[in-house]
Amino acid sequence: MAKALLIKGGHLVDPDQKIDCMSNLLIREDKIIWLGQGKTMLAGSDYDVLIADGLVVCPGFIDFHCHLREPGFEDKETIATGTRAAAKGGFTTVCCMPNTKPPLDNEETIKYVRSKASKEGVVRVLPIGCVTVGRKGETLVDMETLAKAGVVGFSDDGDPVKTMALMLQALEKSRELGLPVIDHCEDPVGGEPEGEEEIIARDIGLAEKTGGWLHIAHVSTAGSVRLIREAKTKGIRLTSEATPHHLTLTEDAVVKFGTLAKVNPPLRTKQDVQALIRGLKDGVIDIIATDHAPHTLADKQGDFASAASGISGFETALGSLMGLLHSGSLTLSELIACLTTKPAGLLGGQFGSLKIGAVADITIFDPNKEWLVDVTKFVSKGKNTPLAASMLRGKVMATISGGGLVYSEIIKSGKA
Ligand code: DOR
Repeated sequence: MAKALLIKGGHLVDPDQKIDCMSNLLIREDKIIWLGQGKTMLAGSDYDVLIADGLVVCPGFIDFHCHLREPGFEDKETIATGTRAAAKGGFTTVCCMPNTKPPLDNEETIKYVRSKASKEGVVRVLPIGCVTVGRKGETLVDMETLAKAGVVGFSDDGDPVKTMALMLQALEKSRELGLPVIDHCEDPVGGEPEGEEEIIARDIGLAEKTGGWLHIAHVSTAGSVRLIREAKTKGIRLTSEATPHHLTLTEDAVVKFGTLAKVNPPLRTKQDVQALIRGLKDGVIDIIATDHAPHTLADKQGDFASAASGISGFETALGSLMGLLHSGSLTLSELIACLTTKPAGLLGGQFGSLKIGAVADITIFDPNKEWLVDVTKFVSKGKNTPLAASMLRGKVMATISGGGLVYSEIIKSGKA
């Protein structure tokens, strides 16, 4: 029988079971087999021990929105590097967007990503399929076939679903399949707050009409939060996400860091950031998703208008979000729920819990460790972040995915 691993002395936070206390946790093979404050029933020599004194132990983080760039943009990221970067950031499940080359708009490309992920990935990869063929906004993909191939949602991310007619058809299918249409809401000119809100309003109207499941990606404005709040009170099937960067940075970062802070949708005002945090606290915004968007430095160079949009986000997500905790804006269990239980809910509730018998996806972090963001040490190929050379407080110390230690900087281990 495989050796077990005891995680000892940690502060266990599991919003799924409403646990928030000191507790040990035992895993064997790929499952959680025991939680408790006393000694395990196993004999002393039967398990390894990981000492988690002063550390938070929680379900592995789940990222509903990231870019792994494979196939086609392997110079920016691969499934191998992206999943290792995810593991370093505490993520054990990541949903990857289909704006690859070719785009993930048919069964073959979905199978390709899934097979690469099973061979080369270190965390669970769940692909998102396109809404339209080639992301061109002309013809709907065969959503049913993609659903059978294992996608967890549909998106033309990088662009909104181009026309009302296509969005209507996609949401009709979404209702049948029980999977979300994840829309990147932006008008064709791009960037303006009103453009985001206009597409959100269009989409909400269509979700109401069809009963399909609409998920709004990377919400960035106070007006968008208002629209989503109103729609939710009407009972429309609607979920939404915000990114760590939209929750913690403002447009001032663009002045300071130039293209490294160029992201789509753009960073907004302080009032927008406050509205997003309030929305997250009261559930209008359901989850935090990174929109990890790695690019080569060459892609980020040149003039602002032509530089690529995006921030490499896996490895700084927790550290930047912990700022919201240290400033008193969010509690520890609220923050962890937005990264675990709540995104798990969008994925059918299979992961994101530390209950006995659950798959052992576990993140262990130090809430107070201060560290310097050194992009030369990033595991991601994407070194593009406005947080380069800044100090963050809060660091992932170990990540366990399906029972295996996929990232660790905990050097202390010992006896029960
Ligand atoms: O900044 C962004 N980058 N926003 C997106 O929606 C797409 C992403 C990318 O693919 O680089």
